[in-house]
Amino acid sequence: MLTDSHNRIHDYLRISLTDACNFRCVYCMPDEDMFTMPNKHLMQPEEIETIAKEFVALGVRKIRLTGGEPLVRKGVEDIIARLSELPIELTLTTNGVFVDKHIPLFKKAGIRSLNVSLDTLQKDKFFQLTKRDQLEKVMDNIHLLIREGFSVKINVVAMKGVNDMEVKDFIELTRTLSLHVRFIEFMPFTGNQWEKDQVITAKELLATVENELDYVKLVDEKHATAKKFKAIGHAGTFAFITTMSEPFCGDCNRMRLTADGKMKNCLFGKDELDILATLRRKENIVPVIRKSLLMKHAVMGGQFEGTYQNTAAGDIENRSMIRIGG
Ligand code: GTP
Ligand code: 5AD
Ligand code: SF4
Repeated sequence: MLTDSHNRIHDYLRISLTDACNFRCVYCMPDEDMFTMPNKHLMQPEEIETIAKEFVALGVRKIRLTGGEPLVRKGVEDIIARLSELPIELTLTTNGVFVDKHIPLFKKAGIRSLNVSLDTLQKDKFFQLTKRDQLEKVMDNIHLLIREGFSVKINVVAMKGVNDMEVKDFIELTRTLSLHVRFIEFMPFTGNQWEKDQVITAKELLATVENELDYVKLVDEKHATAKKFKAIGHAGTFAFITTMSEPFCGDCNRMRLTADGKMKNCLFGKDELDILATLRRKENIVPVIRKSLLMKHAVMGGQFEGTYQNTAAGDIENRSMIRIGG
């Protein structure tokens, strides 16, 4: 079992497969990150398998593949096939563009759910945000995933003045589609031009639709990052990920591996221990995993003083989002 010094059991591992992406979202990828990690710095498929097996032996029950965009990683098929042999729930977070090419692989690997990032339902805005003209493709693929029987969550990073006026439109999607829309409070990462004034909290987002919507609060699953609601009569649900206004660290069960094999004990943690280098030296990685967890702070990597209102983006020592994987 993997327990940190705050008595939290950790059984969920997020593995970033690459820091490359086919999109160019400004809130995720600063310009300097256009240079992606050289292949030899990345965990190779057999290394990912070996490391994942150690985590599973220590109690990990869920692995999420992230990026950049995980589906642009060369050899992603091999990596998914290897991980599908482990006794875990395997899942991924993707921008959705390439999922149609991998449906048989997902099914064979026992993947039942995918999280798709989508911040706007408007074509022009989609282009402004991602620098790519792919809204239709992403929407088609979301429909395809649902038709093929996958459980789909849509991640919407909510930014004031950018897409906060689209809350109702996203919830409208859940009327007939049994998907789960999650609005995520905008978070600061290295180089993402975050300003506290751009954060729009879950409460504020809900207030924008409250008068026009009949909804109920649903019971949240254990360790859930999201607070869940349902519009009455709708097939799907909507939810809020309240990292900035109401952090959910007390129940945290998550660990992260960056694509270059560093363990991050927290999304906002600045301490990184090099699991890949340890493995390549043919040393035991278990003590390194345990050490990383024992260094984990109680809340937000120990990097936020009080609330986010007192925080400036530059105060936070971290990687850019594209090099963490979310
Ligand atoms: P589920 O397993 O489906 O609940 O997904 P998830 O929320 O764990 O993962 P996903 O990759 O879809 O992430 C959605 C949002 O939640 C992203 O903005 C993540 O950065 C954020 N998130 C995921 N895990 C954590 C976490 O451990 N801490 C915080 N603060 N945010 C997280
Ligand atoms: N704040 C909040 N969420 C973010 N994501 C990427 N950057 C940010 C940010 N600055 C989300 C993406 C993706 C998930 C892994 O993280 O939308 O779905
Ligand atoms: Fe866990 Fe860190 Fe996220 Fe809090 S901010 S929930 S401690 S990963």
